[in-house]
Amino acid sequence: MNRNIPRSVSYENGRLIFLDQTQLPNEIVFEEQTTVEQVWHSIKMLKVRGAPAIGVAGAYGLFVGARNILNRKTKITHENFILELTKLADYLDSSRPTAVNLKWALKRMLDAAIKSTEKNVSTLCSLLEKEAILIHEEDKKLCRNIGENGLSLIKSGMGILTHCNAGALAVSELGTALAPIYLAHEQGIKLQVYSDETRPLLQGSRLTSWELMQAGVDVTLITDNMAAHIMSQGLIDMAIVGADRVAANGDVANKIGTLGVAILAKYFNIPFYVACPFSTIDLTTPTGKEIKIEERGPEEVCHFGNRRTAPEKMKVRNPAFDVTPHHLVSGLITEKGLFLYPYAEKIQREYRPT
Ligand code: MRU
Repeated sequence: MNRNIPRSVSYENGRLIFLDQTQLPNEIVFEEQTTVEQVWHSIKMLKVRGAPAIGVAGAYGLFVGARNILNRKTKITHENFILELTKLADYLDSSRPTAVNLKWALKRMLDAAIKSTEKNVSTLCSLLEKEAILIHEEDKKLCRNIGENGLSLIKSGMGILTHCNAGALAVSELGTALAPIYLAHEQGIKLQVYSDETRPLLQGSRLTSWELMQAGVDVTLITDNMAAHIMSQGLIDMAIVGADRVAANGDVANKIGTLGVAILAKYFNIPFYVACPFSTIDLTTPTGKEIKIEERGPEEVCHFGNRRTAPEKMKVRNPAFDVTPHHLVSGLITEKGLFLYPYAEKIQREYRPT
């Protein structure tokens, strides 16, 4: 499955490798990550991106940081090791604020070290390596489960709209929103996927269209402002997107433009689903209003590639995400099942923090 799609994160023989997604679809470039600073930068610059993938990347990044502490000439006490590790986790977490998977994975790594009865720092470092590998392996499994749980929604001949990239490149394997599509394709179910271009960083055209094409799925690229027209022509039977954070009341933060898709879907009576793992659900955030929305630099909006497309000194807003209120969401597709609206209480009951 997905043999033609390179892995966003891989860890082999002690080497942490990220696919540089900013170079896609023109070039496939891999970069070894050897420091926490490099991992921070790769996440910030979206070389590695997508909520689950940055969780996995952050977990390995913290291990790389721990390994570098041990490689210093001076010995470190257990207490100072934990202190430094905590600072590194906070630092990595500061790279991107909206996707809760990063915070979740870093907390899980820190807890593994802090709660361990082991006081030998070198053994603790091996334990961190194992925990990062476990987070990575679990992500692969749960993406397949998300795919299986979403498959029942897909019928032959459907037109499906997706926004941004919640595919194999955004996770460890298959994707979240794209997982049911890949499994349907594997079973020979004929689909027409429409991929929103996703301004300003074009994850839809550079990544989603590319990975679906690589897998042989029939995909058509549209610009974001074409979605209403395409829906009005009756070409879309369902929209599926990913998520960066789901609040306790079910509100969903995802790539900027998702809210527009959800409103359009409601208007045209099209089911709108969100696919995500439980690590994206954050019960400590009561509603979407409390989700911190990342604001990125103006150059992403004022340029198209290397060309400036707005006047110099233009005032710009560049929120990277928006919040879709829960009542616009038909259901959540998760590794634990399909939760139809109203799903807030159901997911709260299912939630088991790690
Ligand atoms: O800024 P990005 O490219 O990291 O944004 C990604 C998204 O919004 C995805 O839809 C989300 O992270 C889900 S990925 C399975």
